[in-house]
Amino acid sequence: MSAMQVFDTPDAMRAWSDESRAAGRRVALVPTMGALHDGHMALVRDARGRADAVVVSIFVNPLQFNRPDDFAAYPRPLDDDLAICAAAGVDAVYAPTAAAMYPSGFDTHVEPGAIADRLEGAFRPGHFRGVTTVVAKLFGAVRPDVAVFGQKDYQQLTVIRRMSADLDMGIEVAAMPTVRDADGVAMSSRNRRLTPAQRAAAVCVPRSLQAVSDALAAGERDVATLVAAGRALVDSEPLAAFEHLEIVHPETLESLTRVDHDAVAVTAVWFGDVRLIDNRLL
Ligand code: PAJ
Repeated sequence: MSAMQVFDTPDAMRAWSDESRAAGRRVALVPTMGALHDGHMALVRDARGRADAVVVSIFVNPLQFNRPDDFAAYPRPLDDDLAICAAAGVDAVYAPTAAAMYPSGFDTHVEPGAIADRLEGAFRPGHFRGVTTVVAKLFGAVRPDVAVFGQKDYQQLTVIRRMSADLDMGIEVAAMPTVRDADGVAMSSRNRRLTPAQRAAAVCVPRSLQAVSDALAAGERDVATLVAAGRALVDSEPLAAFEHLEIVHPETLESLTRVDHDAVAVTAVWFGDVRLIDNRLL
């Protein structure tokens, strides 16, 4: 196998990708913001099974951060990430500079619809517009046959699927289940910013979703009661600050008042200035 390629401009990336496809190779893309962990690498392994060439993109996208401090503090261990990708047999890494992605004069955005206003969108204004815009650009630079996303960011996955379908991009959007640490906490690049005490406290997040699931299994159908059961676990953790926990329709993401069919519980919890999200299919 040839050595891993690293590209930092859309033109160089597209030239390689065009050549790969011309040679009859199916191309898969795993978009990331780096600080790679086993959750990201599960997507890479899945991508390998779906295509002949795997591209990982690494770009901390300023457009999707609604808080400048969060953008500034986001980890950027690029050399480690490149070594992890090489060891995983990734064929190409696309790590563009901010100047290559957003040169002066950049003036076009992809505006998601109502699905992006709910949940995360309500708490992070403009976030999904930043995500759809950058993912459309990554799709344009890589032109993959398939792109793999994690269910960890459940709403993001839904918004990207909608975009690919609505804009006739013809790119298959595949989803992978959330990869968790042994204590149940979802892997996240932001976990690196937690103190040891906060990291230990973060177990209340999956536990609160488990409490919702347990109450449902015990016959409770009322969403307000289910949410209260989940929230109690976060409220009893002194290092955690509850933001939201909602139970929504798995496709439309509309709020439910009763759970009579498939649903998803979606939550966000703060530990100091770090915001963690998680979700669980019910
Ligand atoms: P990032 O948070 O780096 O995540 C990249 C991909 O990895 C996303 O599809 C995310 O859902 C997935 N992922 C993260 N943690 C995971 C876990 N514990 N288990 C399984 N998959 C996990 O999401 C983004 O970056 C950005 O918004 C991006 C799509 C790259 C656009 O900038």
